[in-house]
Amino acid sequence: MCATMGSARGFMKISSAFLTSKSQLPKPRRHQMDTLRNARAVSSTPFPEFADMPGIKSHEDLRKFSLEQPDLFWGKLAESRLVWQQSFDKVSDCDMANGYIRWFLNGKINASVNCVDRHLKDRGDQVALIWDKDEPGTEEFYTYRQLHTMVNKMANVFKQHGVKKGDRIAIYLPQSPMAVAAMLACSRIGALHTVVFAGFSAEALAGRVIDAQAETIITADQGVRGGKFIELKKTVDQAVEKCSCVKRVFVYQRTGGDVTMGKLDIPLDKEMSAASEECEPVMMDSADTLFLLYTSGSTGKPKGVSHSHGGYLTYTSVTFKHVFDYKDGDIFGCMADIGWITGHSYVVYGPLSNGATTLLFESTPVYPDPGRYWETVQRLKLDHIYLSPTALRSLLKSGDTWVQKYDRSSLRTLGCVGEPLNTEAWEWYYNVVGKKRCDIIDTWWQTETGGICISPRPSDPGAEIKPAMPMRPFFGIDLALVNEKGQVDEGDDVRGALCIKKPWPGLATTIYGDHQRFIDTYFKPYPGMYFTGDGAHRKNTYYQITGRMDDVLNVTGHRLGTAEIEDVLDDHPATAETAVVGFPHDIKGEGVYAYIVLKDGISTPFATLDVEMKALVKNRIASYAVPDVFQYTPSLPRTRSGKIMRRILRKVAANDTDQLGDISTLADPDIVKVIIKHSKKAKKACDKK
Ligand code: PRX
Repeated sequence: MCATMGSARGFMKISSAFLTSKSQLPKPRRHQMDTLRNARAVSSTPFPEFADMPGIKSHEDLRKFSLEQPDLFWGKLAESRLVWQQSFDKVSDCDMANGYIRWFLNGKINASVNCVDRHLKDRGDQVALIWDKDEPGTEEFYTYRQLHTMVNKMANVFKQHGVKKGDRIAIYLPQSPMAVAAMLACSRIGALHTVVFAGFSAEALAGRVIDAQAETIITADQGVRGGKFIELKKTVDQAVEKCSCVKRVFVYQRTGGDVTMGKLDIPLDKEMSAASEECEPVMMDSADTLFLLYTSGSTGKPKGVSHSHGGYLTYTSVTFKHVFDYKDGDIFGCMADIGWITGHSYVVYGPLSNGATTLLFESTPVYPDPGRYWETVQRLKLDHIYLSPTALRSLLKSGDTWVQKYDRSSLRTLGCVGEPLNTEAWEWYYNVVGKKRCDIIDTWWQTETGGICISPRPSDPGAEIKPAMPMRPFFGIDLALVNEKGQVDEGDDVRGALCIKKPWPGLATTIYGDHQRFIDTYFKPYPGMYFTGDGAHRKNTYYQITGRMDDVLNVTGHRLGTAEIEDVLDDHPATAETAVVGFPHDIKGEGVYAYIVLKDGISTPFATLDVEMKALVKNRIASYAVPDVFQYTPSLPRTRSGKIMRRILRKVAANDTDQLGDISTLADPDIVKVIIKHSKKAKKACDKK
């Protein structure tokens, strides 16, 4: 039985209905922000927990202590920063060799209690979320009390429909308070959320739903981004056809767009309006999984990186406060989507566990024009902005006037994450955006690390900041550079594989359903240590990231496995084989370069093949994965043992063909000249499009 749901008017009615008592709740207004700002506390001593400890006088002392006594260090922080229903009796039990990671053993905790309930008494009427909707000036404010109501109601709806502790729920929602409420409602009842970025295709969504064996999906009728509507429900319908595990789909009305409601579909807003506002939180074991987040690895199959309640929450809470020097009353503007780890850690869990006011940015950096970020800063008086180098580079290209038009005097820190921040972009951020007044906080971390591991100023206001490097490991983070012989290099001005020697609470606990892959990927390459997959350079004790060492690309700050794209291109009926590599790209950081060997007898024009292959990648993965360059080649450079020499392909893609190194081991060295010759044409053809 199908029914049509929604009209613009119906939406108004339903969307406000989730808060039955909304009219009784104090409506958060913009002036609250000013009250908060005025009430801002003077900077508290960093880590007051250690203020009375003998021998800890400086940041350096504390750093040493955090490495020498990690259990004491993290134990004290977990105890004081979070609310535990039952205290833990042991801080850690980790064995990196087996990928066994457990923090705060036997502690009982719930993430939604830590992010919402605990703030009701002192800051129930404070704004928790500012929803900066796509159209500038249409923002909405949600207090902690309102968020609490939403979370409880949604959790009750889940329970009524049979969702249980331990179930996996896929969230495919636009950036919205409902998305945050959905994450927290899952955690309230002990279900594991797996947020799938709402730009992923039906096939990518289905792959994640199947891997997680999620019985429940939460989606919306449509998303809105950059003035365009995104048909989320339709994409979910296509995905569900491939997923026999799905039993129910909750549909939130974001736009009121007409959607067809099928047998599995449940109108979320309507059900929430009737649900109770009280839902007892399920007490979770600290080590229980809070969420899975799929990320690309060097094979074709994305992996469900798993994070725990107690460890993850401790780490995001502590790093949020100290890396950004967050002060009570500040407004934190992380521009990332909740579909990525940055959104999980620094839009949702880090800020909310600190009782902060956090921004949910629904739009794009260039909508309606390239002044959008700075207009948002002025309108909402953001104290912190946290964005991607790709966005920054594209705004830099649009010129200074878009920035100068708006008042940025509220800003104190300018953060970035996801890819190397080049010097030019750093200087622009510092000089033009921040007018030399703000700290540039270049943060290095990963989906697997849970939170920031390297950043210029973990709490030390006086520390020097150097351009274009994340610089200093966070407290408790024991970095190592490993050389080609597999030895830890203690020297200065050295490069190597970036590893972390000691476990920390934010470290992922497993890859969902494949613990062996977890061990093999992160703990086998350099036994006893966590291998990040990145290379780094250390000079004067400061760290600079040099890029991925595996077959993972970083495009617009998002990870993509080369194998993932090759798998899709290989499925085109005309391709015999493919090889995908990255190349330096002015805006995106890294571009995608696809070498294609066609089957014999294919006469389709290259331009047609380009279009078809682009559509294939877009439909199977997402737009950001679409290759920038397609080069058709008679064969690929292979060693005599059959291995593709990707080094050569990378150099050709990067126009760096003067020194190709030893190619004598190739089965057919002449192919290199052919590839170089054709590369110019391929790049030109793509530049024209
Ligand atoms: O290569 C590093 C790069 O992004 C990778 C992690 O990607 P993901 O798990 O998607 O998380 C991105 C957001 C936390 C890293 O292995 N990366 C991240 N931050 C930086 C960086 N590269 C250079 N500088 C950074 N600040």
